Amino acid sequence: MEHKGTKVLETERLLLRPWKESDAEEAFGHWMHDPEVTKYLTWTPHTDVSFTHVLLRAWEKQSKASDCYHWAIVLKEGNILIGDVMVDHADGYQESGSVGYCLGKAWWGKGFMTEALSEVLRYCFEEVGFYRINGSHAAKNIGSSRVMEKCGLRYEGTRRKYFRMLSTGEWVDIVVRGILREDYRKIRQA
Ligand SMILES: CC(C)(COP(=O)(O)OP(=O)(O)OC[C@H]1O[C@@H](n2cnc3c(N)ncnc32)[C@H](O)[C@@H]1OP(=O)(O)O)[C@@H](O)C(=O)NCCC(=O)NCCS
Repeated sequence: MEHKGTKVLETERLLLRPWKESDAEEAFGHWMHDPEVTKYLTWTPHTDVSFTHVLLRAWEKQSKASDCYHWAIVLKEGNILIGDVMVDHADGYQESGSVGYCLGKAWWGKGFMTEALSEVLRYCFEEVGFYRINGSHAAKNIGSSRVMEKCGLRYEGTRRKYFRMLSTGEWVDIVVRGILREDYRKIRQA
């Protein structure tokens, strides 16, 4: 595997590109302020756009590193920023990383995350040469479960009451998934 970083990627409806601080207003307005979006996430909704600016300034800086895989998801029609997708903890020796993503509520249920994640996996396996991509989600997060399943991340187990939700304080089960290079090849050949 050879790190290639946050290369601009394109699908039929989406452009995946590195983050810029100037995305802050749109990102805040479209999902970063929204408790429904962050319900199962490891961060709480932003209460002030100035925080989003600080975060995105850091993301813009990080995106220049060759081991950073973190994209803003832009709807090509109308050039609208609708979400976020990443492969975190990209490790060149393990040849592995972990996916994370979210989308503004207005764009849920239209196949966008499946489209974005499929392209990210194609890039990771075909261009960068990852061996394994990990995924995990709250067992109750059916949407995320379906996205990972559709993209080929297989069920590997459930960690019981592994995460305490920041939104409710409830301990929830976490489903662990993964896709290997050979799984990906089989899917492509099918
Ligand atoms: C999870 C999330 C990314 C899904 O994105 P999306 O673009 O709406 O998903 P897709 O449209 O690609 O849907 C893929 C499948 O999941 C299903 N699905 C999506 N959301 C669903 C929901 N809330 N309940 C049940 N099924 C759902 C779709 O119907 C589709 O299945 P199908 O092809 O069998 O019909 C989006 O809901 C989101 O951003 N949620 C908040 C953040 C989050 O939870 N991130 C993941 C953390 S692990």
